[in-house]
Amino acid sequence: NRVVLAYSGGLDTSVILKWLQQEYQCEVVTFTADLGQGEELEPVRRKAERAGVKPEHIFIDDLREEFVRDFVFPMMRANAQYEGLYLLGTSIARPLIAKRQIEIARQVGADAVSHGATGKGNDQVRFELGYYALNPDIKVIAPWREWDLTSRTRLIEFAEQHQIEVARDKRGEAPFSTDANLLHTSSEGKVLEDPWDEVPDYVYSRTVNPEDAPDAPETITVDFERGDGVALNGEALSPAALLTALNELGRKHGIGRLDLVENRFVGMKSRGMYETPGGTIYQLAHRGIEQITLDRGAAHLKDELMPRYAELIYNGFWFAPEREMLQAAIDHSQAKVTGTVRLKLYKGNVIVTGRRSPHSLYSEKVVTFEDDQGAYDQRDAAGFIKLNALRLRLLGRRDG
Ligand code: ARG
Ligand code: SIN
Repeated sequence: NRVVLAYSGGLDTSVILKWLQQEYQCEVVTFTADLGQGEELEPVRRKAERAGVKPEHIFIDDLREEFVRDFVFPMMRANAQYEGLYLLGTSIARPLIAKRQIEIARQVGADAVSHGATGKGNDQVRFELGYYALNPDIKVIAPWREWDLTSRTRLIEFAEQHQIEVARDKRGEAPFSTDANLLHTSSEGKVLEDPWDEVPDYVYSRTVNPEDAPDAPETITVDFERGDGVALNGEALSPAALLTALNELGRKHGIGRLDLVENRFVGMKSRGMYETPGGTIYQLAHRGIEQITLDRGAAHLKDELMPRYAELIYNGFWFAPEREMLQAAIDHSQAKVTGTVRLKLYKGNVIVTGRRSPHSLYSEKVVTFEDDQGAYDQRDAAGFIKLNALRLRLLGRRDG
């Protein structure tokens, strides 16, 4: 029997790899996704080989373009934010990893999959809901919920017994746990566990401190077509290239830092720090183009659906029919969301300074405070207000 492990090459999943070989006497197939986490992935191949994984059973796939095109952009069409703030950088990556893992399992004839998420978090749920949705009969092995390597010390002991490389900074207590991809980097645990303690500077990895950002603002434009970003400063870019370029701009100007206490699906509150530089710019730009291209009714309904949609992604229900239903509605709303947004980046801020579109609903003629030449009859407003006031007047008469 064979198991496909979502393998990052880090200490935890390296221990899991060995543990699976021992405990389950099974052949481990490793899968490592390049989601733009910004790490060399060749060392991962070397580590897997050294652990006895056959070369043809080491999968390292560049999924950056698919990640942004088929997961991040569709989510951004909804302007999704969990609990009003979190841009879902980890949540949105899990379904893609699960999907590819199941594909590989099918390809190599494996009947099981495994991951390194703990039993306390959201990620276990996201991975496993994805697995079961795509292969109802798959066997799932979640070592963190099974083994007795429950302390850092025992984990490191196990690693050393099995000639697993332990980075020097992992020997002591690891200061915090991170997850990174093209959309964000998240940090949780250890030094971040007291929600009153300010996040230490060294936890930030992909944005400068806004206080140290350039004193001069930088102005950029982003072009959208049907709700998706297609160009930066007039230059056409693929989804992943656009997000990569926005990440660089966000890094430089200290954009997209977030210190948050959130409600995990499993019921506990957790404190985390997120850096979502490009995604923060992108989402505001998207809102900027929607401002002139979406009808009010469509825009408001979309904003009502958004928290529900965001929660589905957070809770791991990407492959559920209700997420797909909401997606269809959201995608439908984007048909005319085409045009250009101009933004100013300045010391941690993103400010929309202009928007234009061939499908703009904005009518200067109607809105102007100058002579509108009959485009709008102010006398119509009198009856409009009177009928809207009717019930308030009836109430007022009754309740005084
Ligand atoms: N709390 C965030 C989420 O649930 C981030 C999780 C980070 N995951 C990790 N393996 N460090 O989406
Ligand atoms: C984990 O528990 O593995 C990471 C945190 C989370 O999934 O919420």
